[in-house]
Amino acid sequence: MLRDAYNRTIRDLRISVTDRCNFRCFYCLPNGEPPMARKDTILTFEETAYVADIFVSLGIEKIRLTGGEPLLRKDIATLAAEIAVLKPRLKDLALTTNGFIFPGLADELHSAGVDRVTISLDSLDRDKFIKMTGVDGLEKVFAAIESAKRAGFDPVKVNAAVIRGHNDDEFVEFARFAREFGVSMRFIEFMPLDSGHEWNRDLVVPGREIFETINAVYPLKLRNPDRGSETAWKYVFADGSPGEIGIIAPVTEMFCGACSRIRLTADGQIRTCLFSTTEHDLRGVLRSGVPRAEIARFIESVVLNKEPRHRINDADFVQPSRTMSFIGG
Ligand code: GTP
Ligand code: 5AD
Ligand code: SF4
Repeated sequence: MLRDAYNRTIRDLRISVTDRCNFRCFYCLPNGEPPMARKDTILTFEETAYVADIFVSLGIEKIRLTGGEPLLRKDIATLAAEIAVLKPRLKDLALTTNGFIFPGLADELHSAGVDRVTISLDSLDRDKFIKMTGVDGLEKVFAAIESAKRAGFDPVKVNAAVIRGHNDDEFVEFARFAREFGVSMRFIEFMPLDSGHEWNRDLVVPGREIFETINAVYPLKLRNPDRGSETAWKYVFADGSPGEIGIIAPVTEMFCGACSRIRLTADGQIRTCLFSTTEHDLRGVLRSGVPRAEIARFIESVVLNKEPRHRINDADFVQPSRTMSFIGG
C-alpha cells in the first residue's frame, strides 16, 4: 500500500496523457499551450502502461486519464485497453474530457474498458460557453453527454468550473439539466491553476452559495455525509428526481486531510499535489533501465513527500508554475 507521511493511503492515480488542448478555457489555458514539451519527453503508451502496472501493484485502485484533452492523444483507446488489463486489481478506469471529439470515440472507449467519464460543461448558454472555453462547442458537448449515456458509461459526471461574473447565474438551470438528463452535475470552485494568472479571490464563488441557490428551488439531500477521500459533497433531489448535484469546494472548504490522489504528468513527472511546487522525475528513473522493484521504491519514497495540504489561503501562497492543462483535473 502507498501511504504518505500523514497516514493517508494513496489509491487514486491521475495520468495526464497530453498537455495539448483544443479548448481555451478561461480557468485553465486561455492563451493556448506554451511551446510544446519536446515530443520525446512524453511517455509512450508502453511506458505509461508499465508504470500503471507498477502503481497498481503498489495499491492504486483507480486510474483516471486526463490531459490537456486526453482524446487528442492518437489511439487513446489503445492505451485505455492496455491499462484496463490491470483489472480486477485496478477497480476503476475513468477519463476526463471536454467532450468535443468524444461522440465518435464513446463506444470504442467503453469497449476498451473505460468505466466512467467526466465531461466538462461550463455554461448552458451558447455565448457564455464560447466566452468561457474559446470554442463554439456547446452542441458537441451535449452530444458527448448523450453518447456517454448511450455507450453505457455510468455514472456520467458533468463538471462546471464556476467563475464569478461568467456562469454564476446558471446554477438552477444546471440543476434542471441534471434532473432532466439524469447526470451528476458538479460545480467546482475556481482554483489558482490558470495559465493567464487571472485567479483572484473575488472570482471564487463559495460552494455554500451554489448549494443554497439550488436548494432554494430544488431541495437537496446530502448523500455522502461521510465522504472519505471524495472531493465532492454529493446531493440527491429531495423529490426523488433523477440526477445528482456535486459541490467541490477546495478553496473555501479544503479537503486535503483525506486526499488519496497523486498525479503523473504527460512527460512522466509525479506530482503529489495539484499545488506541488516540485515534481519527481519518474521518466528519468524509468528510462535509466533500473529494475521494476527500484521504480516501485522510487514511487514509495515520492509518496512520503506528499504535501499535507494546499496553501491557497496562506498569505505567502505561490501559484504552481505548471497549469491544470499539464497536471490534469
Ligand atoms: P473521480 O473521483 O474519479 O470520480 O474523479 P472526477 O475527476 O470525476 O472527480 P473529482 O471530484 O476527483 O475531480 C473533479 C475536479 O475536482 C477536478 O477537475 C479538480 O478541479 C478538482 N480536484 C480533483 N482532485 C483534487 C484534489 O486532489 N485537490 C483539489 N484541490 N482539487 C481537486
Ligand atoms: N479551477 C477549478 N477547476 C479547474 N479545472 C481546470 N482548471 C481549473 C481551475 N483553475 C477543472 C475543470 C475541468 C477539469 C478537467 O478540471 O472543471 O472539467
Ligand atoms: Fe490533495 Fe493537494 Fe488537492 Fe489537497 S490540494 S486535495 S493535497 S491534491
